[in-house]
Amino acid sequence: TLYSTTPMLNKAKKEGYGIVAFNVHSFDSIFWVVEGAAQLYSPVILQTTMGTVKSLGAKNIVEAATAASNYFDVPVGLHLDHCTDYELIKQCVRAGYTSVMIDASMHSFDENVTRTKEVVDLAKSLHVNIEAELGKVGGVEDDIVVDEKDAQKAVPEECVAFVEQTGVPTLAPAIGTAHGIYKGDPDIDFDRIQKIAEIVDVPLVLHGGSAVPDKDVRQCVSLGMAKVNVSTELKNAYSQAIADHFKEYPDQLDPRQYLQKAKDAAIEMVASKIKMVGSEGKL
Ligand code: 13P
Ligand code: ZN
Ligand code: NA
Repeated sequence: TLYSTTPMLNKAKKEGYGIVAFNVHSFDSIFWVVEGAAQLYSPVILQTTMGTVKSLGAKNIVEAATAASNYFDVPVGLHLDHCTDYELIKQCVRAGYTSVMIDASMHSFDENVTRTKEVVDLAKSLHVNIEAELGKVGGVEDDIVVDEKDAQKAVPEECVAFVEQTGVPTLAPAIGTAHGIYKGDPDIDFDRIQKIAEIVDVPLVLHGGSAVPDKDVRQCVSLGMAKVNVSTELKNAYSQAIADHFKEYPDQLDPRQYLQKAKDAAIEMVASKIKMVGSEGKL
């Protein structure tokens, strides 16, 4: 069964741990992530970008995530990541997604409020979680490309007004991380996170989780960032395992061999991220 991520994240925030939302890009990776979470008795969120929905199909993704959740007997939330298209949000909600992000962070504050409120009105009564972004997270996440010089941190007072005006149950404030693997450690504004968490009740979301040192993520979680997004590190880990396989054994074409290596790499990455946020054993 797929669970709404609202209660999952509220509980995590209250008890001081985080839940990792892993971006998945294939049906195999859906099963790998859920198996990895089950091994640690941890709740987990699967998320897909708009590009992945277009590639695999919303209904197929829901069916695969549900099957994985039932087979491995672990609570799974299914989230639509960085969606800019209201029609696609509707399609995913109808298909059975339990959480959606409306990303209108490229628009003005007022336009962001209007677009977010529209999704809150559609989804909240169906117990589907809604996430919105304030400020601008730098880097590249599929079709969302924000140049470093255009990255912009969220303003705490705007966060309060935004949550009040929209009723959004989870908020992703930009606080210095970026999408992808950047060189050097990110410059995370912990004071800003603390300020936002003090005046905003809802669980906060950390975007750009790849290449952030574990200790920094833990500090973000302890300040109230209950959802931690990880995309690049996971997909790189299992894709690299396949690349290594073919470098060493160019003629070994049995998918069960190279996909087993991909699976081992994926599960190892999932385990390390789950241990990082402290959700192990939190079923
Ligand atoms: P990373 O690719 O840096 O892990 O960012 C993930 C993310 O924020 C997905 O929305
Ligand atoms: Zn993101
Ligand atoms: Na990152």
